[in-house]
Amino acid sequence: MKRKLVVGNWKMNGMTASLREIQKLGTAHPAPTVDILVCPPATLIATAAGLMAKSAIEIGAQDCHSAGSGAFTGDISAAMLSDIGAKAVIVGHSERREYHKESSALVSEKARSAHAAGLIAVICLGETEAERAAGQTLAIIADQLDASLPAGTTGDNTVIAYEPVWAIGSGLTPDRTQIAEVHDFLRDRLGERIGTSGAQAIRLLYGGSVKATNAAAIFAISNVDGALVGGASLLEKDFTPIIKALMD
Ligand code: 13P
Repeated sequence: MKRKLVVGNWKMNGMTASLREIQKLGTAHPAPTVDILVCPPATLIATAAGLMAKSAIEIGAQDCHSAGSGAFTGDISAAMLSDIGAKAVIVGHSERREYHKESSALVSEKARSAHAAGLIAVICLGETEAERAAGQTLAIIADQLDASLPAGTTGDNTVIAYEPVWAIGSGLTPDRTQIAEVHDFLRDRLGERIGTSGAQAIRLLYGGSVKATNAAAIFAISNVDGALVGGASLLEKDFTPIIKALMD
């Protein structure tokens, strides 16, 4: 049975003092029945991974380069992340697709590099508000999924996060029918690509304005195996009710 998963994406937030929040999470969830992954900024990964080594909280990264090493000033490879204790890396977040002009082809390369380093790739995809208004949601999701998924994808090395761009940080969320439509579609399309049992093994996360008040309703939707949480993952007191809703 695959375990459900909740991922906290801190984005460009968090100083060394914020490590306290990750430690509090470890204390609050000594033996969780779901997987918990926190992705702080790169500056905090090594210390967080060391602090949480004996806990149930896993530490991940928010991005990696597609190459293993080389002349790429300022970049960090998946192997380097693994070396400092990261267990996973988010790739293809819409903020990187938008602000860093990352293509699905590059996202696939990054995921492949993550797999090679033994990291779980949390591959993000999602439509913009204009794309949804134009009725293109499933076509966009299909294109992004097809092009972002590297060969060798399995439930052990890959998680897919559906994050509608318009729901991120906005307080807006799709209704349950809209989330179910995309998640059911993702499961079917993954099945066509890697087979039904392979597709069943991949955790499908919903992300975008998940908070304590809407988490339980979102987790009740078909083919939702957890959440990718931004703002509400920064403080243990906000993140814990979401984790508890997933465990219920
Ligand atoms: P919010 O939960 O702040 O909307 O962010 C979602 C997100 O982008 C997580 O990756």
